[in-house]
Amino acid sequence: MASIESVMQEGRRFRPPESFRARAKLKDAADYERLYRQSLDDPEGFWGAVANELHWFKPWERVLEWEEPFVKWFVGGQTNLSYNCLDLQVERGRGDKKAILWEGEPGDTRTYTYRELLAEVSKLANTLKGLGVGKGDKVAIYLPMIPQAVIAMLACARIGAVHSVVFGGFSSAALADRVNDARAKVIITADGGYRRGSVFALKPLVDEALERCESVEHVIVVRRGENDVQMQPGRDRWYHELIESASDVCPAEPMDAEDPLFILYTSGSTGKPKGVLHTTGGYQTYTYLTVKYIFDLRDDDLYWCPADVGWITGHSYIVYGPLLNGVTQLMYEGVPTHPAPDRHWEMVARYGVTIYYYAPTAIRAFMKAGEEYPKKHDLSSLRLLGTVGEPINPEAWMWYHRVIGGERCPIVDTWWQTETGGIMITTLPGVHDTKPGSAGKPFFGVDAAVMDLEGNEQEAGSGGYLVIKRPWPSMLRTVYGDDDRYRAQYWSEIPHVYFAGDGARRDDEGYFWIMGRVDDVVNVSGHRLGTAEIESALVSHPAVAEAAVVGRPDEVKGQAIVAFVTLEGKREGSEALYQELRAHVTKEIGAIARPDDIRFADALPKTRSGKIMRRLLRNIAAGEEASGDISTLEDKGVVEKLLRPGVSR
Ligand code: WTA
Repeated sequence: MASIESVMQEGRRFRPPESFRARAKLKDAADYERLYRQSLDDPEGFWGAVANELHWFKPWERVLEWEEPFVKWFVGGQTNLSYNCLDLQVERGRGDKKAILWEGEPGDTRTYTYRELLAEVSKLANTLKGLGVGKGDKVAIYLPMIPQAVIAMLACARIGAVHSVVFGGFSSAALADRVNDARAKVIITADGGYRRGSVFALKPLVDEALERCESVEHVIVVRRGENDVQMQPGRDRWYHELIESASDVCPAEPMDAEDPLFILYTSGSTGKPKGVLHTTGGYQTYTYLTVKYIFDLRDDDLYWCPADVGWITGHSYIVYGPLLNGVTQLMYEGVPTHPAPDRHWEMVARYGVTIYYYAPTAIRAFMKAGEEYPKKHDLSSLRLLGTVGEPINPEAWMWYHRVIGGERCPIVDTWWQTETGGIMITTLPGVHDTKPGSAGKPFFGVDAAVMDLEGNEQEAGSGGYLVIKRPWPSMLRTVYGDDDRYRAQYWSEIPHVYFAGDGARRDDEGYFWIMGRVDDVVNVSGHRLGTAEIESALVSHPAVAEAAVVGRPDEVKGQAIVAFVTLEGKREGSEALYQELRAHVTKEIGAIARPDDIRFADALPKTRSGKIMRRLLRNIAAGEEASGDISTLEDKGVVEKLLRPGVSR
């Protein structure tokens, strides 16, 4: 926890630069206070007015219905996200404005105006309809970062199909679990995509997954990697062949405000990943407003969020939020370090990117690569920077501010989650001073607090659990197919508040300092993973008897994965077994979950009641002294053995 201590002692602060403030949408603390007050005192009035900035087929009857833990927003209203992202923008005169400037890793490019994007989306929407996909049907999307990923999501939204995007780095087993949980009828995938200079295959993984997915009737395959794939007649079709004959006109389906928009799987502290369900009207209203104010959009901005659409950041801040605001954005297929560590900076300079929003883990990696890489390029087009997904340490923040932002760009450190749908805590770039390491203040409508487990609000300066005291428009509606888990996970830890699963502290100016997860979730390079998932992947290997996975602080990744395993029978740990287990986890989940370290142990430290003492393992993994009470430890010898050199692989 050393890094958290240093964050809490951070005293630096930065005012929004005058040049930025002069043109900002919101400039004064009073603007923020007034709107924030209004959003809490009169949520109906506040959110009703925001929602009305978008198009509705039918007005709502009530803005909000709250019956803990279930919420409905814009009850009775009908709208369509795809309409608001595309048709509405064309109606507002943005038909010829560029929506997406896309660049592949090899350097090939494509651009889409709003009008062209509307046509492409309509073609795919008609194609899906032709395959029998309708309102409420589930469509899995397993694609690289190519324009078709955005097109596929919008095509689903257009006809009322519910998309479930599965990150292209997940394994076939992880894909199969997600497809089966949602009972997806169609999968949209690609032959492969580019990553680090070569093609990674996707379609063969789909074939493997489909050996255990019965719900899937059709597979649509985008040609991208040109790698060899097998097409199963009757089931698999090429995207380009299908859309060739499709009409480019497809009226958007009027959707009820509470109709499901998408399911996105994310990790919790127990069991399998859960399907976070988001719906239509509230999600669109909230993501629209967050982009408008937090990125302080102007019509001539070039916005870039290099995340992947497989994560919530891609859903809300590549696809829906930016398009709802009619922005031009850059989209890039590959890794930031290919062919050299300055790929992003070279692109920022070449395209003239004005807003750049990415993960702290990447910033730390850029920092490590050296400032000579960004220094080679003219980054003066940038006017605003953002971070998302994990805490940013003050050193990385300062580097970002100085080297990338030229000390001229405000940084928004945005705290939120898959479940929250949109950014919840952040500074507003023209309004608030920033403090390196603090996410800032609650966004409009967000009633955030720090509590103890009894529900008492903590005084300024004291740590506790981050909670949200009332529903907001883009809140998850449930865990797909499991209302009980939804209630238990989010609305039961502390009575009557949304439990985020993060530790936090609020300072005397009301700024939040996020201290990381309080449950068994690790954040590795900005990827959220459940230790339970990795443990169950490990024990599914025949050599493993028991496994306990913990996070260890890591300079670049934030956290690294350390697994403690005991082996079956007389098996001994070895380098070969270490490699085999890493490969096994990659196969079960994906390379993002591959342990960085595996320690073979005789036994795991347990309490007398048989619970694995994770806190102790976290200490051991970090090379620290055991903190706290270990008197309940059943066999003290276990710990001594774990501390002895040689227990590692
Ligand atoms: C962490 C990503 C500190 C946090 C959008 C949260 C952060 C989890 C921040 C959600 C931030 C996200 N500062 N921690 N600015 N943003 N987190 O669902 O632990 O992938 O609970 O959503 O990431 O991860 P998820």
